Amino acid sequence: MVKSLRIRGKEPLDGNVMISGSKNAAIPCIAAGILTDEPIILHNVPAIEDIHTLCEILAAMSVKVSYDDERTTLRMQCINPSSDIPPLLSTKMRGATLLMGTLLARCGEVIFESYGGCPIGERPIDYHLDAFRKLGAKIDTKGNQIRVSAKKLKGTLIELPFPSVGATENSILAACCAKGMTTIVNMAVEPEVMNLIEMLGKMGMQYTFDVAKSRIDIEGKTNLQGIRHSIIPDRLEAGTYSVAAAITKSSITIHPVVEAHISQVIQALRDARGTIELESGMTMRADFSDICLSPFKIETGPFPAFPTDLQPQFTSLSTQAEGRTSIIETVFENRFGHVPELQKMGAKIQISQRELTIDGPVSLKGAHVTATDIRGGMALILAALCAEGSTTVNGFEIIERGYDSLESKLSNLGANIEVIEDEEQHK
Ligand code: UD1
Repeated sequence: MVKSLRIRGKEPLDGNVMISGSKNAAIPCIAAGILTDEPIILHNVPAIEDIHTLCEILAAMSVKVSYDDERTTLRMQCINPSSDIPPLLSTKMRGATLLMGTLLARCGEVIFESYGGCPIGERPIDYHLDAFRKLGAKIDTKGNQIRVSAKKLKGTLIELPFPSVGATENSILAACCAKGMTTIVNMAVEPEVMNLIEMLGKMGMQYTFDVAKSRIDIEGKTNLQGIRHSIIPDRLEAGTYSVAAAITKSSITIHPVVEAHISQVIQALRDARGTIELESGMTMRADFSDICLSPFKIETGPFPAFPTDLQPQFTSLSTQAEGRTSIIETVFENRFGHVPELQKMGAKIQISQRELTIDGPVSLKGAHVTATDIRGGMALILAALCAEGSTTVNGFEIIERGYDSLESKLSNLGANIEVIEDEEQHK
């Protein structure tokens, strides 16, 4: 359904916000559930559209999936999965690519037609396919269709050219059922990858992990077992709400937050002159009341560097800082879709290759703007929270793919927002 969000800006925020489970951790963990025929129970799953789509894909592949009433506990059991990923559903989300590694490991083949996701760059899957090849798989392509097959996957050395999150996860998922030892070097060490490794360890995967060398050694095993596992809190959602506090010069409490997952983000918030306090029990207080925001410098990169998925939100924030902010995007080559929309609202932003230079503060004005991707769309909502007058953000359904209960969480903090569905939005 096509939706817009109408926001009347300049309302101060106040109160507490509960952070949901991480989308980017839940997706690979659900994919991992296919590796066993025993029941898997996942707690703290976010109730968002991408997870719903993934569950539809699994159901179409004969995997039993059910939710509790609040859609935060997911039960799944995979007795005899089909190796065909339904293309109409997989075009809706990039994360469906993670079914390749698990289905290859479980069924010996996977047929995959297309994959979707946010338009933030080329996003090829060559590292994933190269890793499967190294594990002994054959890749056949016909038009858009990719068939990856292997009678038996064999342990190997996989050296990733870049610590790609998805390629690391797919390599691990395939390798944990391969015969013999697989070593993955230059792997991604994002908290979401660690959450997957922790789950696979409980399922019986044998491994040793060296964080300093970004390397994992996995001894393949075929009989993985059913387990219960909790998805980590969403560090990107926590970072986004802290920007909501900063951009409205408010003070809010965010819970639960794992400090080690967002240390670069906390640093950037402190550079902007916010008071960020972490209490025991994973509660973060972000206080920006009555301050003049300072400009800051950010360079995105693989964890533990500043996350690319918070770059758009901090771009919005920088429009309110007193001076010139520099933001360098090193992960994706085309992650500036939010910039022309912010410029419509009055932002002074220059793009030079992968660097943004933002001059502030500017008084943003309400406008009609359009989300092209989850995080870029969220950046527009954040800008609207501090803009004069009313802003309509089209494509709210894209943003909701990644943010659980966004409308109610923002309303509870005091934002003046209203969701407009279908034909009403163009009135
Ligand atoms: C995941 C996250 C996404 C986040 C990104 C980077 C999920 C579902 N999505 O995406 O929110 O923005 O990590 O933290 O977890 N690349 C290649 N070839 C490949 C794979 C990647 O060239 O085969 C390039 C990409 O084009 C990109 C870079 O590597 O420039 C990083 O991409 P990657 O880490 O793989 O991102 P995703 O796993 O797609």
